[in-house]
Amino acid sequence: MWVIRYTGQDQPGSTSATIRKRNLSMRSDLIQTHIDRNRETECLSEAYTGHRDRIMQLIASTAKDLTDGENQKCSSIVLLGGGNCLDVDLPAVAELFEVVHLVDLDETAVRSVVNAYPERANQFRVHAPWDIAEPLLSLTSRDFRPEEDNRDHCIKVLQALSSENGIADIPEADVVVSLCVLSQLIDSLAVLIREDHPAFVNALKALRMGHLRRMLSLSRPGGVAIFVSDIVSSDTAEQLKTATTEQIPELVKTFVGEKNFFSGTNPSVILSELNVLSRLETGPDTVHTIDPWRWDMGERAYAVYAFRIQKKLPQSAEFEADDTGD
Ligand SMILES: C[S@@+](CC[C@H](N)C(=O)[O-])C[C@H]1O[C@@H](n2cnc3c(N)ncnc32)[C@H](O)[C@@H]1O
Repeated sequence: MWVIRYTGQDQPGSTSATIRKRNLSMRSDLIQTHIDRNRETECLSEAYTGHRDRIMQLIASTAKDLTDGENQKCSSIVLLGGGNCLDVDLPAVAELFEVVHLVDLDETAVRSVVNAYPERANQFRVHAPWDIAEPLLSLTSRDFRPEEDNRDHCIKVLQALSSENGIADIPEADVVVSLCVLSQLIDSLAVLIREDHPAFVNALKALRMGHLRRMLSLSRPGGVAIFVSDIVSSDTAEQLKTATTEQIPELVKTFVGEKNFFSGTNPSVILSELNVLSRLETGPDTVHTIDPWRWDMGERAYAVYAFRIQKKLPQSAEFEADDTGD
């Protein structure tokens, strides 16, 4: 049984106390799968080099844009799914940002990476163990029972999954990066309910929408959310292992056309969801698609793509930015 303790200045019933309480109820069986994967991959730093370079290029060019190329640091970055942090160069990130927030369910992984850089300790904020898709990791299959008497409850669960709330109380950041987390969230959902369950498709859509909304709500106005997602692996797309860098984008197009990709990761569907969100005042202003690349993970290779999503500025701020004085 979980014992819930309130620490610091949280009052029982306050928002942060409530969120912490919910996170303490995460299911250990769901969490353990991810922790085991992290332990299996922690030795693969060298194999991740190309993948890490691509993500670091994206982060560094975004930081440069946000500081207008001036030689100064951005305020903060949030790394969702930091885990072993093999897909980022953490000291280089800390050169670009004053504060680095790391969010993951796996506290051991994140703390051991952070502890390797004691000279940077004052820059790192660890938010773990944390469910990025809260309440996903506290749910059971009963929450999705299709019977009529569970309909209202099921709707509430879907609303909670798609809501923009739920990530640790982190102040709005300049940059938010999702490090191949979406497929992992969908994996957890597929453990809860099978893909042929009547609620699966709606739950997946809610989860994905919630992830995009949470990235946006963590970003400051004018800030950038970098959504990185794996889409297919060499298990079903053997050619990935031998393809050249130039061939990967075309190959991925073919795989998508053949419906050979992980459930819920189709980039065109995510793009249309971002388009829907762009109607909101706090939605995306621009979305750039980044060509897919290969992520080598030991025996297996993955194709990965990204979206660089710039959040809108409030309209009054836009006028000020456009006001050239003439
Ligand atoms: C594909 S890994 C990303 C790789 C990781 N950045 C690294 O270099 O090791 C996905 C990460 O997301 C974390 N994760 C999966 N589901 C999560 C959830 N619901 N909440 C928080 N973290 C989650 C896993 O623990 C893992 O560290």
